[in-house]
Amino acid sequence: MAELEGLEFGKSDFVLLDEVTMEQFMENLKLRFEKGRIYTFIGEVVVSVNPYREMDIYGKETIDAYRGRELYENPPHLYAVSDAAYKAMKRRAKDTCIVISGESGAGKTEASKYIMQYIAAITNPTQRAEVESVKNVLLKSNCVLEAFGNAKTNRNDNSSRFGKYMDINFNFNGDPTGGHINNYLLEKSRVVHQQDGERNFHSFYQLLRGGSNEMLESFHLQSDPAVYTYTREGATTNNDRTSHKAVMSALNVIGFSEEEINSIYQILATILLLGNMQFECDGESVQIVGLEAVNHISELTATDPESVSKSLLYRTVATGGGEVIEKGHSEQDACFGRDAFAKALYERLFGWIVSRINTVIEVKDYNPMLHGKNTVIGVLDIYGFEIFDNNSFEQFCINYCNEKLQQLFIELILRQEQGEYQREGITWQHIDYFNNQIIVDLVEQPHKGIISILDEACLTVGNVTDTVCLDSMDTKLAQHPHYTSRKLSPTDKTMDFQKHFRIRHYAGDVTYSVEGFLDKNKDMLFQDFKRLMYNSANPVLKEMWPDGHLSITEVTKRPLTAATLFKNSIVALVDKLACKEPYYVRCIKPNEMKSPVLFDDARCQHQVAYLGLMENVMVRRAGFAYRQPYSRFLQRYKMTCEYTWPQHLMASDREAVETIVTQHGFQDDVAYGHTKLFVRTPRSLFTLEQERAALIPILVLFLQKVWRGALARMRCRRMRAIYAIMGCYKRYKVKAHFWEVERRFANVRTMADYGKSVDWPTPPAALSQFHNITVMLHHRWWARQIVKNIPPSDMPEVRSKVAALTALSGERKDWGVSRPWERDYLANVRDCPQTSSSFTRVSKELRNKDEYSQVLFSGFCRKVNRFNKSTDRGLLVTDKYVYKLEPKKQNFLVLKRLPLDGFTGLSVTSGVDQMVVLHTSSQDDVLLCLQRGALCPNQDRVGELVGAMVDHFTRSIKRHILLSVCRSGVQLHMRGKLKSVSVETKPGQTSADFKKSRDGFTLFVPGN
Ligand SMILES: Nc1ncnc2c1ncn2[C@@H]1O[C@H](COP(=O)(O)OP(=O)(O)OP(=O)(O)O)[C@@H](O)[C@H]1O
Ligand SMILES: [Mg+2]
Repeated sequence: MAELEGLEFGKSDFVLLDEVTMEQFMENLKLRFEKGRIYTFIGEVVVSVNPYREMDIYGKETIDAYRGRELYENPPHLYAVSDAAYKAMKRRAKDTCIVISGESGAGKTEASKYIMQYIAAITNPTQRAEVESVKNVLLKSNCVLEAFGNAKTNRNDNSSRFGKYMDINFNFNGDPTGGHINNYLLEKSRVVHQQDGERNFHSFYQLLRGGSNEMLESFHLQSDPAVYTYTREGATTNNDRTSHKAVMSALNVIGFSEEEINSIYQILATILLLGNMQFECDGESVQIVGLEAVNHISELTATDPESVSKSLLYRTVATGGGEVIEKGHSEQDACFGRDAFAKALYERLFGWIVSRINTVIEVKDYNPMLHGKNTVIGVLDIYGFEIFDNNSFEQFCINYCNEKLQQLFIELILRQEQGEYQREGITWQHIDYFNNQIIVDLVEQPHKGIISILDEACLTVGNVTDTVCLDSMDTKLAQHPHYTSRKLSPTDKTMDFQKHFRIRHYAGDVTYSVEGFLDKNKDMLFQDFKRLMYNSANPVLKEMWPDGHLSITEVTKRPLTAATLFKNSIVALVDKLACKEPYYVRCIKPNEMKSPVLFDDARCQHQVAYLGLMENVMVRRAGFAYRQPYSRFLQRYKMTCEYTWPQHLMASDREAVETIVTQHGFQDDVAYGHTKLFVRTPRSLFTLEQERAALIPILVLFLQKVWRGALARMRCRRMRAIYAIMGCYKRYKVKAHFWEVERRFANVRTMADYGKSVDWPTPPAALSQFHNITVMLHHRWWARQIVKNIPPSDMPEVRSKVAALTALSGERKDWGVSRPWERDYLANVRDCPQTSSSFTRVSKELRNKDEYSQVLFSGFCRKVNRFNKSTDRGLLVTDKYVYKLEPKKQNFLVLKRLPLDGFTGLSVTSGVDQMVVLHTSSQDDVLLCLQRGALCPNQDRVGELVGAMVDHFTRSIKRHILLSVCRSGVQLHMRGKLKSVSVETKPGQTSADFKKSRDGFTLFVPGN
């Protein structure tokens, strides 16, 4: 039930009308039309009103909205019914058909195209190439068939002048695998004659307006349709040029070869040239005026010109004795023959195009064992019921066809309905409706029907004219309530004597002019033309005329008449439709002006009446307006009853449905079928719908609440679990780290290096601080173990080395760490064998005098004096003073004594030279270069002096002495003046020595 739109758009299903009256029906139809709602349901039938304007309701989003949905889930639409047909076909493997009916211009052809587009859009999701090409050909075939089979009439600018029934075959996947087009009675009389204001078939104008100049030239044509008798009427142009292009491309896509396309247009050209052909009688025989046309026709049809003119002027007749003679035409016969030929050419061309398309789209290589059941959706788009000012044989056939389809509608809709009530065990109440069987009988009944009378007249030898035939009908059908003529109602001046008869069709009274009925029914074409075409050198043309090979003596058997052939084809069509599950689109034409805003009440009401739509609604409602399988009903309305929401506990769905119905007090308004619930009045369903609509927001909120809660709980549980896992894992990592540290360091106490070589395991992030502390602890413990084992006598040396190490902090390359530090080198016999004893004596005196307690360092050096000269000196650093000594033979002379705490810093270089600057607070620094004695002739002593002094200052004086390790020149003050000293290597220099430089001194050291 399509109750998705507000009531301001009217009721989307006519069964929902409060009362089924014509007024209400029309009111609803009009309201919906005015609101742009052109589709309305009657149950499963779609009523469509031609909008006469572009509607934005066929796009991809709309297709998506309808795809796979139930009929009642969306507003009424062609797509809803297409989907229902497709679903029935796919789900239940049922052959279905969509019958589109309505009068001319009501929108049948447009509807059929939208239906095809929908089916094409929803199938073949995997885009298989072969299926895509089938779909493409099916869609493109419309364009070609419309060009050749449609024309402008006074009722419709694009009126179908043929009937079309297209079967689309589907495989078990529901993808189209092929199709077949049946065409019905093309209105070929249009080729030679059109009523005022109408046009010939579009194809002629498309060729003339859209064909290239070369093409037209080669066909001996001019581009102006007014030049040709057959296209003179309605020659005004519209979009023929663009249509021509579209048709050419469609022909290509479908697979017509160049040669075939050319042949098609050659035939059209032939017809146009034939139309202009004139005959004249020179008293004795009839001649063609201007032989040029004959030559052109023979060229276009690939025949010989002689035969062309002969077949136009003569006919071959078989005499009683089996002889064959040639009989010349009268001028009138020649014109008749020419027109018949032109009509037949077009009709065969059209038939050939359809069959050519069919060979392309026919299902190929189908194996039911492999591919499953081959199911079919048929789409019927046939010419609609029509009334013109002058109605001829074609209108008679078209309107008869519509009678048959109306009959089928009544049959199927009633039968379906009745069938359902029977199947479900429901008592069904008969609804009266107008059964048009009586009109169908009037036309087709054997012996008494109009077709029979026509056929009989055609068979009768002698001069039987249309009027004779009319007399015969008047006699035989005088009593028929749906037949009349001027003779039977002499007072009715709307008909002429001997010309008109009238049939009261289901859709209205139509007055037919009997003129031409017999000829059209006989549909005679001289065999000469058939033979001419059969003998054409153009294989395409030859293929269209297979019966041309018969000689005149072989064709004495009378062919079936046009009316009988048509009747047979329509009977076959109806049989074909009747065995399928039908879906109906009932088209209504809102006005005669093709206006998008005009709703002509009287016209519409008339159509509603004759289409039997009111009866349709009544049938649908008389029994029951709604039916739904129990499960679906329950699904939809279970929230309206506490016992069924959210799940019922009853034995069956049916019982649950009963509970809902009883709770709402609808028990008298429903009937229980075997599988479905039947609801009589829409009001009950409305009530349920309203209740449902009110509950839905609450349920939605409730469901949202529950679901959101569930989601949040789930998220919370997951987070907790994540944290628990993370916690356990972290604890495990910490423990694992402890275990690993314990394992690796368990035996460090007994190791030779006390675990210095043991690698620390990488700690987890949480333990990084702990790790740093443990590493430090271990280092300290390790250092303690090392220091513990050092004898006290070695401790000063160790301390000095540690002090030097820290102070130099890796800046100086060589600082003598690896050798034993002797400190008092001047007193050392091994280092200074000649002077040690004298120094020892001097140092003893100084110790007594100056009361220093230990020597921090002593050794020879090169020192710059106050005259900027360098001299050899002895340096003695004690814990109280720094002495400069002059080494004299056998004696040391104290030159200067500087208090130790007057020193503020030391400067050394980062190189291997032995230069040291002792900075003083009085800015009279001491610049010297240590000399190495015999003990360690090539080793560094700077590190030792730095270590001894830094250690002493830190430990005993409790003051830091500044140490700078300079990479380039060293800065110092001498008697308050800033000087800088650089170090240079000098080849040939035997020992390091200072030389005065521009801004201070240069220490030259020996180089290679
Ligand atoms: N759904 C639609 N949207 C827009 N225009 C439409 C629609 N249906 C019909 N029309 C308009 O109405 C015209 C006539 O429609 P259509 O050719 O389908 O009529 P028909 O019922 O097939 O008539 P006939 O019986 O003469 O073939 C179309 O050319 C188009 O202009
Ligand atoms: Mg049509």
